[in-house]
Amino acid sequence: METIRRTKIVDLLKRRDFGSMVNVKGWVRTRRGSKQVNFIALNDGSTINNVQVVVDLANFDEELLKQVTTGSCLSVNGELVESVGAGQACEIQARAIEVLGVCDNTYPLQKKGHSMEFLREIAHLRPRTNTFGAVFRIRHNMAIAIHKFFHDRGFFYFHTPIITASDCEGAGQMFQVTTMNLYDLKKNENGSIIYDDDFFGKQTSLTVSGQLEGELAATALGAIYTFGPTFRAENSNTPRHLAEFWMIEPEVAFNDINDNMDLAEEFIKYCVQWALDNCYDDVKFLNDMFDKGLIERLQGVLKETFVRLPYTEGIKILEEAVANGHKFEFPVYWGVDLASEHERYLVEDHFKRPVILTDYPKEIKAFYMKQNDDGKTVRAMDVLFPKIGEIIGGSEREADYNKLLTRIQELNIPMKDMWWYLDTRKYGSCPHSGFGLGFERLLLFVTGMANIRDVIPFPRTPRNAEF
Ligand code: 4AD
Ligand code: MG
Repeated sequence: METIRRTKIVDLLKRRDFGSMVNVKGWVRTRRGSKQVNFIALNDGSTINNVQVVVDLANFDEELLKQVTTGSCLSVNGELVESVGAGQACEIQARAIEVLGVCDNTYPLQKKGHSMEFLREIAHLRPRTNTFGAVFRIRHNMAIAIHKFFHDRGFFYFHTPIITASDCEGAGQMFQVTTMNLYDLKKNENGSIIYDDDFFGKQTSLTVSGQLEGELAATALGAIYTFGPTFRAENSNTPRHLAEFWMIEPEVAFNDINDNMDLAEEFIKYCVQWALDNCYDDVKFLNDMFDKGLIERLQGVLKETFVRLPYTEGIKILEEAVANGHKFEFPVYWGVDLASEHERYLVEDHFKRPVILTDYPKEIKAFYMKQNDDGKTVRAMDVLFPKIGEIIGGSEREADYNKLLTRIQELNIPMKDMWWYLDTRKYGSCPHSGFGLGFERLLLFVTGMANIRDVIPFPRTPRNAEF
């Protein structure tokens, strides 16, 4: 076959130089037609759209065409022609076809309409479906949006460690990292494991958050963000929890909680706008296939100013709802850690727009949050979104050395893990704030997918680490 430089389908579909000879390479999505002419829908992943390859059967070897089946990989030379049918503006009149890889009828993606559950079992192949192609192209584009947002505003991308010896959220939901022989653990007289001979000479885990190290950087470089994988060994089997997820954590010196809320709102709107501007074909596909309200919901968030409300006020609204007969699965009272149903009631039923809830009881929040004068609440802020619930969690940080130390002691957090963190408050402490956006929760929102397992290529959840 003659060598012609390959054109990606995304670029080819924009071309109008009809009559040119072109080459495309990709995988067969469908093949249909008559005894004279066949139409092959070819996709190379560069776009949701296929290019139609028109094949005059008389011009091709029968044995070759037998190998052109759903899932097979082709290189096609042909003439770019104007399309007569509806849909695409151009198609390819095939002149030569090479089968790069055959695909037999055990290929599980023969037919359309597989369930999401089934596709999760073949996560190694699901990027070849329209749906997952769209989701993973959007995932890439959102990562670019995030870097651009912060870079344009003078934030530095700071790399925090994956392996750590401290528990940022203090929730004890960490995966241990060890090279020790688990059959032969050395223990002291109290029965505790001795880590002296372990790889790091101490107990270590996979990080739950880069925040603490991020604060070290913010109190030196001014404004930073992290963007990396984080791990939580919480046994939550919900459509919104992963054991391995990606988090974006900006941290800014001299920002108070109001600046923090402004940043969060601007950031998330920027990301949503980016999806509409840069991923419209994919978003439109998902809108039409699964979630007819998706585009409207994305545009809605851009229009609305987020509600800003203290936790105590939020509880009053929820208690009123209960008094008026609304049924929640979990109880509502001051001090409770809100469940997703409570968060969604505030957003979807009561305010009908995103809500930033602030000033939570200190008992249900992490040790590092700035303590309010009431002695009961902290300067926390959670951003709550339609269909998602909590999408961002953050706070102003406790900048006072003594208050922070007291809180660490109250919670029995080991000082051997925290001395370096406390040094930021000892040497030139400053007010500062930050937050964490769960990347997959953002993707749930912009793709309209119903389950967080379907917005990350290889989800890790309890009892599931295939691939
Ligand atoms: O609220 P979280 O636990 O906050 C922190 O980790 C802080 N250190 C962030 C900070 O202030 N720098 O988590 C932040 C966000 C949540 O709002 C949620 O979007 C996401 O991370 N998240 C999860 N996403 C998927 N699966 C899980 N198991 C998640 N846990 C939290
Ligand atoms: Mg949280």
